[in-house]
Amino acid sequence: MTDRKTRLRRAVSRTALAPLAALPKRLARVARHDAKVIRQSARWLVTSREHHNYTYDLTPLNREHLAWFVSIVAEAPVADVRGWMAEIESDTVLRTHIEQTTARSARRGLADKQVRYARRVGWYALVRARKPRHVVETGVDKGLGTCVLAAALLRNVAEGHPGRVTSLDINPEAGYLAKAEPWASVVDLVIGDSIATLNAMDRPVDMFLHDSDHSAGHEQREFSAVEPHLSERALLLTDNVTITTVLLKHAEKTGRRFLAFREQPKEHWYPGDGIGAAWR
Ligand SMILES: C[S@@+](CC[C@H](N)C(=O)[O-])C[C@H]1O[C@@H](n2cnc3c(N)ncnc32)[C@H](O)[C@@H]1O
Repeated sequence: MTDRKTRLRRAVSRTALAPLAALPKRLARVARHDAKVIRQSARWLVTSREHHNYTYDLTPLNREHLAWFVSIVAEAPVADVRGWMAEIESDTVLRTHIEQTTARSARRGLADKQVRYARRVGWYALVRARKPRHVVETGVDKGLGTCVLAAALLRNVAEGHPGRVTSLDINPEAGYLAKAEPWASVVDLVIGDSIATLNAMDRPVDMFLHDSDHSAGHEQREFSAVEPHLSERALLLTDNVTITTVLLKHAEKTGRRFLAFREQPKEHWYPGDGIGAAWR
């Protein structure tokens, strides 16, 4: 580049015209990014049937971040966490059950054939690490998360650590994936509003997962309702961590630590959800 051109570029970079000078480069970066999202969105529109509660896999890097997140929250060696994550991913009995039940279900037109757990693999590893006697999940939908939690509890039972999951949903049709044995043997499915059910809870809760009505108000009411029923070392989880500050504020108010994991879906337009965790 000639001295004259360099001088001109430096002069422009000191003026209000600087953003315009870099415009072609900036435009190319944005266009590359947006084209990727549009490609993924177009492919998803023609290949997926899902209209909410999307399923996808995580990128390999994001999966590794999840392993470290669980390791810190559960105070478990990361090698063990990786082992538990591989355990659920290679559970072909559960995978086949979900595939076949989805194919027979009345809601099959709204569900994809492939089984993809995403952050639920983290829920599984947390149950395997902490061996809770009582897990509560609010929001069941088809029952994918319930099955994952039940599969972890069944492995814990086989190793001498009994536990059950109470799964709550307001929709009477929720949870059809979790109604088959052996998973159903550790699941108590309760239909009704989550707040009313949490208020009436008659057993201590060791692990609580908010995944129902994702408005901040409802999330807050769930954590307040479950608080009197929590065991001393209970772990609180939210599926809403990328949207609200409810759990981090609740953690601070109740003297707990807080950590968040954010999903990075593989080959999907959706930016992902996350796991928020609060614990003592
Ligand atoms: C995001 S889905 C749950 C996803 C599920 N945990 C999973 O792993 O796939 C949210 C569910 O919350 C339920 N829900 C919404 N409001 C509720 C309430 N007030 N009480 C209980 N369940 C509620 C909905 O019926 C819906 O099935």
